[in-house]
Amino acid sequence: MIDAFRLDHQTAVVSGACGKLGPIWVEALLEAGARVGALDLPGAKASAAFDALARAHGDRLRRFDCDITDRASIEAATGALVDQLGLPAVLVNNAGVDQPPDSGGSRATVDGLPIDQFRRMVEVNLLGTFQMIQVLGARMASQGRGSIINIGSLYASVSPDQRFYDHMAGEVPFLKSPAYGASKAAVVNLTKYFATLWGARGIRVNTLSPGGVLGGQDDQFKGKYGARVPLARMAQADDLKGPLVFLASPASSYVTGHELRVDGGFTAW
Ligand SMILES: NC(=O)c1ccc[n+]([C@@H]2O[C@H](COP(=O)([O-])OP(=O)(O)OC[C@H]3O[C@@H](n4cnc5c(N)ncnc54)[C@H](O)[C@@H]3O)[C@@H](O)[C@H]2O)c1
Repeated sequence: MIDAFRLDHQTAVVSGACGKLGPIWVEALLEAGARVGALDLPGAKASAAFDALARAHGDRLRRFDCDITDRASIEAATGALVDQLGLPAVLVNNAGVDQPPDSGGSRATVDGLPIDQFRRMVEVNLLGTFQMIQVLGARMASQGRGSIINIGSLYASVSPDQRFYDHMAGEVPFLKSPAYGASKAAVVNLTKYFATLWGARGIRVNTLSPGGVLGGQDDQFKGKYGARVPLARMAQADDLKGPLVFLASPASSYVTGHELRVDGGFTAW
């Protein structure tokens, strides 16, 4: 049974691979034996974690420029990726945008929230994911097998607790955007759409929804957040890798249309 978790000789694709969570998915897929095509915006600065993986696994990890909001860019990246690594069996739609408190973006009250900020989150998180499935998912469907994993969020299911942020300094209080959860909830529905549309063509489509992942948050935030989680802490890299490999591999061969919440029980409370 344990061999069902292996991805040897398979090609996997991860979008937004150079950020915080991207390298976690990439490392998990490499550990399971896959070759990985890492997509990110042209010029996007790779995190130290991504650079370390590139140094250690240069033979099985390649980076390709790709803007998931631009269909031509996705098609160009797909062409190069298929040429170099072969047709993918796994697609992890991870690229996404949020506006975390430390992002330096301007703050607004909900009535003054710029509509372009809302539009951008929908553009990347929802429309970008859709276009990736259109182009890469369709290639996978043409070969009659594959697993697509869309990265959701705990905020696909529940509204953010704004009290997590009320200790943060600033003239205008930080407000977690209403667009983020709305775009992620739409991704959960999009997952079901493609799971049902392409099930008979051998494609499984699932959402993996992480809870808040540890990394750089201040102590007060971590304390408030942890107190709200049944497992009493934020997620760490190793909490995410097993669920990703499960969904990517034949270990989950009869699982499709599912949202796997990896949130320490946050949404159970
Ligand atoms: N970090 C968390 O705690 C957390 C929790 C739940 C869900 N998520 C989700 O996980 C995913 C990754 O989050 P993260 O924390 O690594 O974010 P991040 O900002 O660190 O990384 C996102 C990556 O996506 C890339 N990207 C942005 N727009 C793109 C585009 N148009 N085309 C291609 N690439 C693009 C960025 O360059 C970056 O490398 C997102 O979908 C996010 O919503 C994150």
